[in-house]
Amino acid sequence: MKLLVTGGAGFIGANYVRMLLERGGDRVVNLDLLTYAGNLENLAGCEDRPDYRFVRGDVRDRALLDRLLAEERIEAVVHFAAESHVDRSIDDPREFLDSNILGTQTLLESARRAGVARFLQVSTDEVYGSLGPTGLFTEDSPLAPNSPYAASKAAADLVCRAYHHTYGFPVLVTRCSNNYGPYQFPEKLIPLMIANALEGRPLPVYGDGRNVRDWLYVRDHCEAVDAVLRRGRPGEVYNVGGNNEMQNIQIVRLLLELLGLDESHITFVKDRPGHDRRYAIDATRIRDELGWAPRHRFREGIRATVDWYLANRAWWEKVRSGAYREYYDRLYGAGGRHTST
Ligand code: NAD
Ligand code: TYD
Repeated sequence: MKLLVTGGAGFIGANYVRMLLERGGDRVVNLDLLTYAGNLENLAGCEDRPDYRFVRGDVRDRALLDRLLAEERIEAVVHFAAESHVDRSIDDPREFLDSNILGTQTLLESARRAGVARFLQVSTDEVYGSLGPTGLFTEDSPLAPNSPYAASKAAADLVCRAYHHTYGFPVLVTRCSNNYGPYQFPEKLIPLMIANALEGRPLPVYGDGRNVRDWLYVRDHCEAVDAVLRRGRPGEVYNVGGNNEMQNIQIVRLLLELLGLDESHITFVKDRPGHDRRYAIDATRIRDELGWAPRHRFREGIRATVDWYLANRAWWEKVRSGAYREYYDRLYGAGGRHTST
């Protein structure tokens, strides 16, 4: 299949592109704006493959989209591109609304006009808001987003719904729980704690540390996205989760244990405003309809993740210092090996 993957230089997108290229059989065009979160080093080694092309660009750029979809005869779109960090959305919501909502609408419109056969919106369980101590989010749970990030994703999901309902455009939506694994930007809980611990900095736990997230290894999420893209029912939403609820403090303690460090590194800091208490997913639909289930146990996945950050210290040090941006210039900038558009 000829696929347009947006946001393929980010954490999950890069893992997805790598998975597709490992398997072979598809052509993958990766459209990414390379915001602070986009890092082409996540795709090092893919650049010269004939079945892969990187284009630097914005999903809000309609002219670029129209040209690219026609030129590449794109059959399916997988839309990962988004502003993705809750804390940043609290500091400055505007770009989240702009990029995540208008970006999705622009892409939907261009894809619809181009006759794209499948469009997958990669969404999040955060659109459902927060749970009490019991219960799970199903696809029928009401949308009740609490952070500007979650609100922007919920709005984008509703635009997707409208494109299916109004135009019969074949949109699919996945709503996944928290991911972890290689290439995650070290502003999110797990890579931030690993990097801070390795640099001897404090590990900042928000509030009482008892907020619960359902953690899923990124490769399992990528497989879920791919199953829904190829075999899901257009117009449907599919929840994706790891059936692996953990309190933040349990995660931080486990990371310290794996790194051979003691708990003196933990520091409790002021809570995130509006901090959702608990997320938990009922993934029955994707399991029953598409036969998807997570393949990685948390203990193994987290160990592999810690090992990856230990082995790739240069990667996250460059991210933290900002030096990762030089990679783009070397490969795609003026005089570089690849042109970007
Ligand atoms: P990320 O922040 O690591 O990557 C986002 C990528 O999108 C970056 O490469 C960035 O350059 C690109 N991008 C941002 N705005 C763009 C624009 N306007 N045009 C083109 N490219 C743009 O994010 P991630 O963690 O990989 O998340 C990917 C998607 O999955 C997001 O839509 C997010 O909402 C969703 N999601 C993430 C998680 C998670 O745990 N990380 C869980 C569920 C759903
Ligand atoms: P995060 O990785 O930002 O994902 P999300 O907010 O989208 O779930 O945060 C995961 C959990 O970890 C969340 O409850 C907030 C908490 N957290 C901390 O306690 N300290 C931190 O430094 C960060 C980044 C997150």
